[in-house]
Amino acid sequence: MLDVANIKVKYGQIEALHDVSISVPEGKIVTLIGANGAGKTTLLRSLSGLLPLSNGKVELHGEDITREKPHRRVARGLAHVPEGRMVFANLSIAENLEMGAFLRKDKDGISKDLAYVYELFPRLEERKRQQAGTLSGGEQQMLAIGRALMSAPQCLMLDEPSLGIAPILTRIIFDKIVEINQERKLTILLVEQNVNLALEISSFGYVIETGNILFEGSSQDLRNDPRVREAYMGG
Ligand SMILES: Nc1ncnc2c1ncn2[C@@H]1O[C@H](COP(=O)(O)OP(=O)(O)OP(=O)(O)O)[C@@H](O)[C@H]1O
Ligand SMILES: [Mg+2]
Repeated sequence: MLDVANIKVKYGQIEALHDVSISVPEGKIVTLIGANGAGKTTLLRSLSGLLPLSNGKVELHGEDITREKPHRRVARGLAHVPEGRMVFANLSIAENLEMGAFLRKDKDGISKDLAYVYELFPRLEERKRQQAGTLSGGEQQMLAIGRALMSAPQCLMLDEPSLGIAPILTRIIFDKIVEINQERKLTILLVEQNVNLALEISSFGYVIETGNILFEGSSQDLRNDPRVREAYMGG
């Protein structure tokens, strides 16, 4: 579904991603784990078209999207739930969800997807007229995921959905990520520092450190790998 080959990304003179290649097969959940500053957000932002590449290639469904504008990538089915959620605080929950569908014209499809998002996260429907800024962190994360789903994606990229969220809501959100993957057949690229949870729900993982993929493997192998246990799972 998503194939990334040898990408390099620079901030000014400083290279933040050196030569990153990853592959996310259709229908799978693949996780990218790594410490603070490793380059996880930089990778997702470059895949969304928000940061220019200085080398490499990005393919979605076998089509080269390396030079596509961000909104074109969304229209092609690639959605991004950014780090820190970035909901529109002064808009209502319903308005935030509408924004997610702004490129679409299929009114019936939009209302079906809205019903699906409200079914997935009933809290959002209960609070739909409320300003998004009044939601808790976990509820804002639900809203950010719902907004991404409103673009009718085929591939969803999530940047640290558990960040700053109460453990009980993290559990709910991870269960929903699995549900979206299974019921909607959505391909998912999950960036996480909660390595235990991420490896539990994914089938394959990559470990990134200072802009390089250090190693990769099935989530089960990574869970049992002493290097992963020591560096990311508290031994
Ligand atoms: N706008 C920027 N300008 C310059 N350097 C940046 C910028 N954003 C990130 N960096 C640097 O690029 C590197 C990778 O940062 P990035 O935010 O991608 O890491 P991350 O893995 O997402 O970390 P975190 O877990 O803290 O979110 C870091 O060294 C960071 O300081
Ligand atoms: Mg980050």
